[in-house]
Amino acid sequence: MEYLKTGLAARTASLAKGYDAVCAFVNSDVGTKTVEALHEAGVKLILMRCAGFNNVDLKTAAKYGIDVRRVPGYSPEAVAEHAMTLAMTVNRHMHKAYTKVRENDFSLGGLMGFNFYQKTAGIVGTGKIGAAMARICRGFGMKVIAYDVYQNESLKDFVTYVTLDELLAQSDLISLHCPLTEETRGLVGRKLLALMKPTAFLINTARGALVDELALAEALDQGRLAGAGLDVLTQEPPEPGNPLLSAQNCVITPHVAWAAKEARERLIRIVAENLRRYQEGRPQNVVS
Ligand code: NAI
Repeated sequence: MEYLKTGLAARTASLAKGYDAVCAFVNSDVGTKTVEALHEAGVKLILMRCAGFNNVDLKTAAKYGIDVRRVPGYSPEAVAEHAMTLAMTVNRHMHKAYTKVRENDFSLGGLMGFNFYQKTAGIVGTGKIGAAMARICRGFGMKVIAYDVYQNESLKDFVTYVTLDELLAQSDLISLHCPLTEETRGLVGRKLLALMKPTAFLINTARGALVDELALAEALDQGRLAGAGLDVLTQEPPEPGNPLLSAQNCVITPHVAWAAKEARERLIRIVAENLRRYQEGRPQNVVS
């Protein structure tokens, strides 16, 4: 095994020559050219060390007989806890409070938030992470509504499923937890942003491309939305001119929602297990 500091991309894929498998992450470029170069290098297996796999050209991988594995649900709580951290940050303006106090400014201007208690949380995508977020919101005493293409039976005691439009119109806190697919790309654009309450917060710890970033920045700057907490962007790191970097009450973290010690340990263990099971001909966590 060899650890290279450089990320996986078309230009670096040939470094895998002599190895059967490569490890890739959410920010790796595992598009057509990279997969072709991996094939030329003799690679047979792509081990994603993350849950999402929207950055992998699965068609080309299948064409060359390259298998792909991922790590689903290695710590839904880590991501959900970060989503609530972002929600609390933009609601109670922790980012502003922190800088004010560093400058010995104890004035309260711009720091007023509101209770989440008895407000409505809208969860889009109630798989493992969305379900964990729903439980956290319930713990805050919130009413929890959700939208998903499938309903999660384990949540039926306290979650009400509604249409996406109803969810956006009713929620004070909207949290995205669905995968990035052709269907969900650009899901939250101008039309859906216009349905949200101007006092609502949008939290995205799923994938940046679920949201039209320009439309979101405009909504924030025009006061049509109270705040956004984003752990993911369409491009990470973003272009310096990305309007979200300077949008009103927009807090961005660098794709770290997963980064809790328990999550990392489980992630590493499952990647190793995925490799062992591949070698034993007992595949698990197959992406196809
Ligand atoms: P999951 O597969 O358990 O749940 C996804 C849910 O989204 C499912 O219930 C599915 O039915 C639903 N869904 C699919 N299409 C939908 C649509 N069009 N509208 C509404 N719901 C839809 O996945 P999990 O583990 O909960 O992860 C969710 C996403 O979180 C991942 O796809 C990944 O992009 C992101 N993620 C982000 C991390 C971070 O560090 N920021 C870490 C891990 C995952």
